Parts: sequence; structure tokens; C-alpha cells
Amino acid sequence: MVKSMYLTPEEEAMYDGEEGSVVKKSMEILVALGDIYGAKRMVNISSAQISGVSYKTIGDAGLEYLEEFAATGVKVKVPSTLNPAGIDLDQWQEMAFPEDFAQKQQRIIDAYQQMGISTTCTCTPYLVGNVPTVGSHIAWSESSAVCYANSVLGARTNREGGPGALAAAICGKTAEYGYHLDEDRRANYLIELETSLNGSDYGALGYFVGKIVGSGVPYFRLQSIPTVNDLKSLGAALASSGAVALFHVEKTTPEYKDAFNDLDKNDIETITVDRQTINKNKDILSTTANKPDLICLGCPHASLEEIKSITELLNGHKLNIPLWVCTSISVKAAADRMGYTRIIENAGGKVVCDTCMVVAPIEDLGFQVIGVDSAKAANYIPSMCGLDVVYGDLEKLIKRK
Ligand code: F3S
Repeated sequence: MVKSMYLTPEEEAMYDGEEGSVVKKSMEILVALGDIYGAKRMVNISSAQISGVSYKTIGDAGLEYLEEFAATGVKVKVPSTLNPAGIDLDQWQEMAFPEDFAQKQQRIIDAYQQMGISTTCTCTPYLVGNVPTVGSHIAWSESSAVCYANSVLGARTNREGGPGALAAAICGKTAEYGYHLDEDRRANYLIELETSLNGSDYGALGYFVGKIVGSGVPYFRLQSIPTVNDLKSLGAALASSGAVALFHVEKTTPEYKDAFNDLDKNDIETITVDRQTINKNKDILSTTANKPDLICLGCPHASLEEIKSITELLNGHKLNIPLWVCTSISVKAAADRMGYTRIIENAGGKVVCDTCMVVAPIEDLGFQVIGVDSAKAANYIPSMCGLDVVYGDLEKLIKRK
């Protein structure tokens, strides 16, 4: 294989197989990606976040690939966490997930753990200790987490595929191209809001803008001040209807002041968004007027603050349909201690760990219509699960039951 990028002696040694066949194969993947995208060199990464975890998405071929890697004894070189799996690893039996699926899912988790990867299984690793600093290079693969890390935390990552992120974790390196470089972090769309936003409005905005800008970099001039949870929803929606990996919000995100540096004004397209556009996109995200038979919240995985808000909304309410609040095992532990889990369970709901409404096989559990407050989930559930969705804030979803 002829490579054109520069490698340090340490990287050359990995490439030549001096650290074993898996490290060699991983370095070959990174070099191939670097050559395709015109990278001149590698950069050290401070963390990895690896997708390709749910058995629903990677199947037997993925399971075998990971077990082969793990059997060699290879270990990752940087702190690494996993994306959501297909089941709640502790509660799968009571939630009626198929046993065969659960067993294979557990083998995938075991293979990753053997390689030294933390089995946190979450798309919000930045809420549970995998928090990069401003300007640090990382290799993350979950699209919503990539968007959050680049935009809100000011870290630098491309949207890695699962194998690319695993290869980067194994080598502790990634090829320097795309969002690792200053010039690719400039905005090329100015999004002017003519209305203030609240709750599920942010997801609708992200869904609308993502469809227009594709893999561009939008700069938002908002009329309202977003919370970090609003930014999480906005980024997830942008990354699902489009392929956005970075956005800027005026006076809010760390790189907004540099967003238009060295750019010709003619290269920036302005898009105006009014209340009618937000409401229209909220309507588009619902695929049915029917009532949901399951409400799923926590996409991306819920923060403790979001879980607290859910308990306040439930406020002694008894639900007559199931409710899942998806989060990480660490946030659930905190929710357990704060009494939030008990409030949700008393209302008839469940705090679900390690998985979500998209990567779990919910289509096999007998549900038809899923109520969600996430534009990303609303966008993916029809295609990934073959089910209908109703999009809206929890208050509306509860009233609709
Ligand atoms: Fe996370 Fe699943 Fe949504 S991976 S971003 S909760 S689709």
C-alpha cells in the first residue's frame, strides 16, 4: 500500500506491524482515511467514542470482527467509551428483550471491555466523564455527540465511523483533516431567527436547517438563550436530517467569534426562520395523528436535569401507557439516589440505561406508535424501526394519551 501522509517513527512502527496485527490494521485504516481526505499527518487524540455497539446495527459480522480483535489481546491507548447498545444490560429480561439478541449483545460488550473500553454505552459521554477540553483532538463517532463536542465543547473531531473510531482508539491517533483544521471550522450559513424558541422548538429548528445545509457549518443568531440541553437537541437534529458536525451560536458557543474569519461575505448564505417554519417542521416530524402507545424520552441520553424536569411534569400523574427515559448507567445512579427513578416508576415509567428507542429492537416488543420529544428520534424511528412517531414536548405527549 502506497501512502502519501507523513508518519512519525512511532507511527511508522505501528504501520509496519511492530505492535501486532490489529495495531497495524488500525493504522492502515487511519492512513487510508488520511490519504482519501488529504491529511498531511496524524494528531494525538485525548479520547475516543465508539459507535457500532448495538447488535441490531452490526449483526453477526460485526460481533465476529470485534471478537477477533479482542482475542488478540489488543488494548486501546486513550480513554474510550461506547455508544448505546441494543438492550438495557441490567433490565433486559423484565423489559422483555429477546434472549438470543441479549446474549449476542452481551458478547459485543464483553469484546469491547476486553480491549479496555469503558462499557458506559451512552451517546452523551460528555455528561459522564468523557469530556474533552477546548481545542483537543478526539475521535468520536456518534453524530449527536460529535456535534456537541465540536460546537459546545470546542473539541475537534470528524464524524468517525465505528471502525475508524476504534482504530483511532487503538493507535491513540487520528488523521488531521476536516474539523481538526481551523479552516474547516468556519461557518457557511447564517441562520437568523425571527422567533424565540423553547423545548422541542430546538429540535424542529435543527431538523429544518440540517436538511438545507447538509454537511455545512451553520451559525445561529437566536432570539432566545439556549440551555445546554437545548444545544444537545439542536445538534442531534442537525446531525440527523443533515450531516452537520459543527455549528456556532452567537454569544454562546466557544468559537462563534472566529466563525466568519477570512471568509468572503458572498460565500455565506442567509436563511431566515420564523414561527410558522418551526411549527410546520414540528408537524412534519409526526408521522401519524394516532395516540402513542409508548413514550420515549432521552435522545440524546437524558441529563440529570432533564430527568428532574420529567419528574416535575409527571407530578403525581399516573400514565396509562409505558414511558421510557433513556440515559446512561451513571446518570441513572444519580437519579436513583435523588429519588427521580422512583417518581418515574410510580407514574408507570422506567429509567432505561445503555440503550435507546432507535438502536433497541422496539419493533419486536409490540409497539406501533412512539411519542418522542427528540427530532432525531422522530426522524430515525420510522426508517430504523418501521414504526410511527408523534413529536412534541412531554406535556403534549402525556395529554395526547
Ligand atoms: Fe442517542 Fe439513540 Fe438518540 S444513540 S442520540 S438516544 S438515537
